[in-house]
Amino acid sequence: MMLRQTLPRNTRSQGLVRQMAVMAKSLKYTQYGEPQDVLHLVETQLADPKDKQVLVKILAAPINPADINTIQGKYPVKPKFPAVAGNECVAEVICVGDKVKGLQPGEHVVPLTTGLGTWTTHAVYNEDQLLAVSKNVGLAEAATITVNPCTAYRMLRDFVKLSPGDTVIQNGANSAVGQAVHQLCRAWNLRSVGIVRDRPEIGELKQQLECLGATVVLTEAEVRTTDLFKSGTLKKPKLAFNCVGGKSATEVTRHLDNGGIMVTYGGMSREPVTVATGPLIFKDIAFRGFWMTRWSKENYDAPERLQMFKELCELVEQRKFVAPPHEMVPLDKFKEAASAALTFKGFTGKKYILNMS
Ligand SMILES: NC(=O)c1ccc[n+]([C@@H]2O[C@H](COP(=O)([O-])OP(=O)(O)OC[C@H]3O[C@@H](n4cnc5c(N)ncnc54)[C@H](OP(=O)(O)O)[C@@H]3O)[C@@H](O)[C@H]2O)c1
Repeated sequence: MMLRQTLPRNTRSQGLVRQMAVMAKSLKYTQYGEPQDVLHLVETQLADPKDKQVLVKILAAPINPADINTIQGKYPVKPKFPAVAGNECVAEVICVGDKVKGLQPGEHVVPLTTGLGTWTTHAVYNEDQLLAVSKNVGLAEAATITVNPCTAYRMLRDFVKLSPGDTVIQNGANSAVGQAVHQLCRAWNLRSVGIVRDRPEIGELKQQLECLGATVVLTEAEVRTTDLFKSGTLKKPKLAFNCVGGKSATEVTRHLDNGGIMVTYGGMSREPVTVATGPLIFKDIAFRGFWMTRWSKENYDAPERLQMFKELCELVEQRKFVAPPHEMVPLDKFKEAASAALTFKGFTGKKYILNMS
């Protein structure tokens, strides 16, 4: 086997023979349950990458709500056991199989597909499951680029044709997706109205989101009485995003313009989306859902997918797009991080990123 690689070799026989035993430390589970109960740090020796395979060293991998829900068995994606947890990451290419054409050792890559199992120090993936990203994209930004920023990008692009100056409204406006929406709205000259739950340090949170590009941030109580739209200060939103459900979603729909669309992409309150009858009839508002995993599968090789990554990476490199506030956590501290990442009451305030660099 010929490998384009940079790892130690010896010179047995005529050719160069690889002499490497990469031991991966992975967070594996063999049954559903709470992450702190079912995840175990397991060492496995990895086989050399063959043909179109790529050996990578994972540098950083975030803990997203969907990762926790998958481990709990509450997500539509059901892994085959034993499974390595985690879906997103940024990794460095260590060496590649002899049929790999587009990746070089040393390059940074992100996964193009979910379910690869990224909470591990090393892994062997297929070349077509990876996308090279510039090293100018910071580790936290690269590790978190494939899910939340892409979700925000697609929801802003694919449901309503927006023009500069148009307004978008969303609840869960401090979530990682919400923060991505604010930043893309600023980059694309859209007005971004965010709704968050009230909390003691609400002033600080509003300021933080406004720095990212939110035009206005309102609490759930404030949005019920706001005259921002009636007064004409902002155009009525044509597009709304909902990741909470329940009353929060109902309030958002009351502000939609005629023919407006609310896209639901999460259900953090675990309450169903209830529709206010008036806006449904008299404004003919519509309800849609969005799932990035489905979009990515259906558009695996689509040019608009590569275009999306290109634009997002450029925004990061231009410092117009940053990762959400986060804490880098060593892999062996995963229990604390996983249980803190998704609590029923919320108010986590930061993304936990497993740091293997
Ligand atoms: N459909 C898709 O393709 C897609 C893609 C990405 C993400 N998502 C979903 O989007 C949601 C946000 O993901 P993320 O990574 O952006 O999350 P995140 O950064 O961890 O933020 C979580 C958000 O949920 C809110 N929240 C937490 N518990 C809550 C509760 N009990 N009631 C109301 N709000 C609550 C938090 O607000 P507080 O600060 O007030 O707690 C925060 O705004 C998740 O449901 C995730 O699964 C879906």
